[in-house]
Amino acid sequence: MQRQFSVLYNLLFSAAVCGVCAIFVSSSAVTLKERQDVNKLLDKKKNVLQAAGLMEAREKISAEEVEQRFSSFRAVVIDLATGEEAPEIDAETFDQQKAKKDPARSREAPPNFSLVKRFPNHALVYEMTDAAGALEAVVVPVEGYGLGSTLLGFLALDKDTRTVRGLAYYDHKETPGLGGEVDNPRWKAMWPGRLAMDESFTPQIEVIKGAAGKPADDPYRVDGLSGATITSRGVTNMMELWLGPDGFGPYLERVRQRVAAGSQVKEAA
Ligand SMILES: Cc1cc2nc3c(=O)[nH]c(=O)nc-3n(C[C@H](O)[C@H](O)[C@H](O)COP(=O)(O)O)c2cc1C
Repeated sequence: MQRQFSVLYNLLFSAAVCGVCAIFVSSSAVTLKERQDVNKLLDKKKNVLQAAGLMEAREKISAEEVEQRFSSFRAVVIDLATGEEAPEIDAETFDQQKAKKDPARSREAPPNFSLVKRFPNHALVYEMTDAAGALEAVVVPVEGYGLGSTLLGFLALDKDTRTVRGLAYYDHKETPGLGGEVDNPRWKAMWPGRLAMDESFTPQIEVIKGAAGKPADDPYRVDGLSGATITSRGVTNMMELWLGPDGFGPYLERVRQRVAAGSQVKEAA
């Protein structure tokens, strides 16, 4: 009898401990989720700033400072096929990665070396304006397969849509010291001033095996990541994909039209 009671007691005690732990874990998951989401958004903004050259890769700045620097940006949801703004979609809540997985809000991607399976119908871009409200630069999301992982990042282009301002990845699982060197500030510093596209706006930028020249002499090529040719090729592939007609080609065309129209207005004034 005494033995039976102690088995029951042990079972009840274990169940009680499990119950308390489950409540503790799930309540902390719920309370931390909000903070995690805020931090994720902050991290994304930091990467947009880094791509645009408004923040150093290893710079530590407060959340307020991030918001302050981010104030020259406007998040815009665009229709990927037409490049037009989609004001009916709230840029604050739009999640491109979720949209991509939803068959009603995405389409099958054409075969591509970046191994992107679906394209979202809409994409979230960031437009940077000067103090007078004139468009200065655009930051577009890029993604594609490297070696063993998909890299997610931002490419910033000047308003001519050809000149690179910078590239920053915010998510990947490439090997540290090899493909992971995409995060190395020295490698990232090789991007600004190079040309992503040629004069007819065909994507040209390429991460080569070996060393490229200076941006003025060798505008379409960037140094390869040593010992990581596959990741390097992955970066080239995603540039070609996202700057092309299935990616942001139509949007970048509209940006050029807007910039040309804006300069005509200024000339006439
Ligand atoms: C454990 C391990 C991890 C690797 N990680 C990467 C990587 O993240 N990116 C990459 O391109 N190559 C990586 N490689 C190397 C590739 O297998 C391949 O050798 C390399 O991309 C070829 O580049 P190279 O011609 O510049 O040497 C890794 C190799 C090993 C053994």
